Amino acid sequence: MRLIESPAAMRAAAADAKRAMARIGFVPTMGFLHAGHLSLVREARRRTDLVVLSSFVNPLQFGPTEDYATYPRDPERDRALAQGAGVDLLWIPPAEQLYPVPPVVTVSPGTAGTILEGAIRPGHFAGVLTVVLKLFQAVQPDVAVFGRKDAQQAALVRLMIRDLDLPVELVVAPTVREADALALSSRNIHLDAGMRRRALVLPRALAAGVAAFRAGERRSGALVAATAKVLGAADGITVEYVNVVDPDSFSPSHAATERSFLVVAIRVGANRLLDNVVLGEGLEADPGAEDGGRRSEDR
Ligand code: PAJ
Repeated sequence: MRLIESPAAMRAAAADAKRAMARIGFVPTMGFLHAGHLSLVREARRRTDLVVLSSFVNPLQFGPTEDYATYPRDPERDRALAQGAGVDLLWIPPAEQLYPVPPVVTVSPGTAGTILEGAIRPGHFAGVLTVVLKLFQAVQPDVAVFGRKDAQQAALVRLMIRDLDLPVELVVAPTVREADALALSSRNIHLDAGMRRRALVLPRALAAGVAAFRAGERRSGALVAATAKVLGAADGITVEYVNVVDPDSFSPSHAATERSFLVVAIRVGANRLLDNVVLGEGLEADPGAEDGGRRSEDR
């Protein structure tokens, strides 16, 4: 595995790969890697010849009161995990090289960027899309792999690729969960034992929504109510949103289909937790199962 820092060195490595006719796979991350990130690397490996993983905590996507300063970082550990997963190029750009001046021109996500996560975090998706476009410019990927864990982000990246004619194939990979169905997230490190236990209401609530869907319910309002009922019975959490959304536009839909997303965000203490499920597929692990899910390999 080669370690790269400057955007210029990344562009040069991408140009070398293109000359050698290698297909480039790209996994953008903010580091503090876990088994979810590594599953994206495996997906990229399956489809391409050269896998690039970037690790960059992007200041542009954090609001002034958000957790940019306390976002977990461990570059040494990331390096070992990336190498073990088969990353070819690990790109860790210094912030002052990616943003030599504060950007004046940014990518506007449109209305899909102002609902759900975008409503709670104004400017967040403009920051995400702007950095993703900048990273794409240097990496020149044939395939980019994102996680379904951040389904609204993946939907917006898909819209950016479509609307700005980017020559990138987007792959969205399933959410990797702990055995008890909690979705892996770098931010989970901030949960103490009590918070970690309370967080399990998230997959349980999603499972209740899926159960209602499987029982034949298609009205979004009723599916949201079934999900919210489980959340409402839990102590020590605050619900931010529960919605059934269209998989392409991510706008709320009245009638659910097999492809609709049920999306939930809650707060546990100071921590925001997001999760979602495709109603026709169900959770990747069984909430409450002792060993029903894919176990985290790394965290
Ligand atoms: P980060 O939160 O580090 O996530 C990087 C990628 O890993 C995203 O595509 C995310 O959806 C995916 N991911 C996170 N948890 C996952 C899980 N449990 N299972 C599968 N995939 C998972 O998302 C970002 O960084 C940033 O916004 C970024 C796109 C890098 C732009 O700064």
